[in-house]
Amino acid sequence: MDTPVNILAIVGSYRKAGIIERAVDEILSAAGKAGAVTRKITLIDKNLAFCTNCRSCTQVAGDHFGVCVLDDDMTSLLQEVNHADAIILASPMNAGTVTAVMKTFIERLVCTAYWPWGAPGPKARRPEKSKRAVLVASSAAPGIIARLTGDVTKRLESAANMLGAKTIGTLFIGLAAQQQHQELSKRIIIKARKLGQKLAVHN
Ligand SMILES: Cc1cc2nc3c(=O)[nH]c(=O)nc-3n(C[C@H](O)[C@H](O)[C@H](O)COP(=O)(O)O)c2cc1C
Repeated sequence: MDTPVNILAIVGSYRKAGIIERAVDEILSAAGKAGAVTRKITLIDKNLAFCTNCRSCTQVAGDHFGVCVLDDDMTSLLQEVNHADAIILASPMNAGTVTAVMKTFIERLVCTAYWPWGAPGPKARRPEKSKRAVLVASSAAPGIIARLTGDVTKRLESAANMLGAKTIGTLFIGLAAQQQHQELSKRIIIKARKLGQKLAVHN
């Protein structure tokens, strides 16, 4: 029998039980019922400092993520990503892009690149995409408008790439700020469950 798929969700919403967290919970619950092992990390609960742009973490070659000079929760977060077969990256769209806490996490992913001084740009340490990713985003605007005017899914997909994950699905929830505690629509719940079931199966 296959070992269960290990799924890690990284949530960049500021609201507990907001639309993003509830959508992620639907995905994880469906994945869990389909046999996956799941875990959710909410970034606001973590101690995550801003990248200092020192680029210490990018100087040494190799496929191990570079070591950051900052001593906070990023190291353990990346260890959890390393153990995962699949990841979920989730963020509301704020001011046209991912939330500041998700952006902080994404900037810290510079350690996933080799970029010594003198090199023109960063080179991915893990260009192969051995993991799978699902992206979850939400907006006050209708989904189609938000996707045209903002870059939240682009930012999340690029983060997934940096973590060695190929995006296999996106759940975008438009019109997500009509009520303080808005319910997920039936359509979104069905899509979330399908994504969970898809993630729970090995490649
Ligand atoms: C500071 C702030 C900025 C926002 N910016 C946008 C935006 O640019 N476009 C948009 O469609 N919705 C915007 N929204 C609405 C959020 O996307 C919406 O509240 C969120 O998707 C709900 O997710 P949550 O329930 O997990 O908090 C903004 C909300 C806040 C509080």
